[in-house]
Amino acid sequence: MKFWDREKEKKWLKHYLLTEPNAILFVYGPKSSGKTTLLMKVVEELPKEKFIYYWFDLREELISDYDSVVQLFFTPKGWFKEMISVIKPKINLGIFEIEPHVLEEIKRKERKPFAEMRKRLEEDRAKGLVPVIVFDELQKLKDIYLNGGSQRPLVKELFNFFVRLTKVLHLSHVIVMTSDTFFIEQVYTDSTLKNTSEFYLVDFFDDETAKEILISEGLSESDAKYIVDNIGGIPWMMERILSNGDVRDSVHRLYLQSKSRIEMFLIESDDPDRYEDMLKEILSGQFKLRKDNIKEVKELVNNEILFYDPLTSKVRFHTKPDEIAAKDMIVFPR
Ligand SMILES: Nc1ncnc2c1ncn2[C@@H]1O[C@H](COP(=O)(O)OP(=O)(O)OP(=O)(O)O)[C@@H](O)[C@H]1O
Ligand SMILES: [Mg+2]
Repeated sequence: MKFWDREKEKKWLKHYLLTEPNAILFVYGPKSSGKTTLLMKVVEELPKEKFIYYWFDLREELISDYDSVVQLFFTPKGWFKEMISVIKPKINLGIFEIEPHVLEEIKRKERKPFAEMRKRLEEDRAKGLVPVIVFDELQKLKDIYLNGGSQRPLVKELFNFFVRLTKVLHLSHVIVMTSDTFFIEQVYTDSTLKNTSEFYLVDFFDDETAKEILISEGLSESDAKYIVDNIGGIPWMMERILSNGDVRDSVHRLYLQSKSRIEMFLIESDDPDRYEDMLKEILSGQFKLRKDNIKEVKELVNNEILFYDPLTSKVRFHTKPDEIAAKDMIVFPR
């Protein structure tokens, strides 16, 4: 598969993994910015004999309660666990394999799940391996976190365990990936993760890099500029335009997609005028997150119209086509 380079991000992540575990790492960024693709590339390029990865692709899992979390983590001995999209011959993949009766004890809450995991990680260390736990798509835990009632402490416990693994024991790296930045913030606040976590933004390609990529793919300077001015550096959109061939037509289609998505959101909302005013405020560059608008911002973030950066507390449009479409609809309506 094609990989457009991300030298800066790769360098940062490699350095991070080659340093002693000391904090949970939240890799965040707008939906489809390239977080998973990037991390997979990074781990492929690190020395295979040095690391072992416990990679949890939560996107593929149905997580509704304690049992499903336990099932996600553990594989009974002798069972085959399908490691979906991550079967990569280039890396060492680990699984938390345990005796079936131990699993039953964990399910009955007679035995603590995290102690079993820690044991396994200590064994890896004894073999000279550095374990890396990867949680891709943290937001899949949101339902049990927000609605789970009695399950809620589980997420907190999980993060406390992650803190112990990193900051306290320096045993394993923990990388959590998500595009749901309000959820990170909530987990962060609720689990008192202050000074125990690090945040790293993986954003779309910046305009200059995107332009270079498009020219290296054979586009003319003016086509590349047209794309960057209208789309920005969104990898999947760049791919789509390149494979379609007709630059203006593809860009226009992507614009129409954004426009209809925002239109639909406004039609379905209870108070379109209020949302329009907020989007106008964002377009004017005067927007500030306040107590009286946070609910609407969350709604717009959930619908991937806006993106919220928890590190800077700044809000922006999710993509350039979203911003252009919103401007056409709200500031210059026809
Ligand atoms: N560096 C890259 N080079 C080429 N294509 C890329 C690159 N990064 C991302 N892509 C393309 O963009 C798509 C989305 O990337 P990816 O799934 O890694 O994003 P993500 O940030 O993990 O998304 P999500 O928020 O849904 O988890 C990929 O399927 C791939 O086609
Ligand atoms: Mg991803």
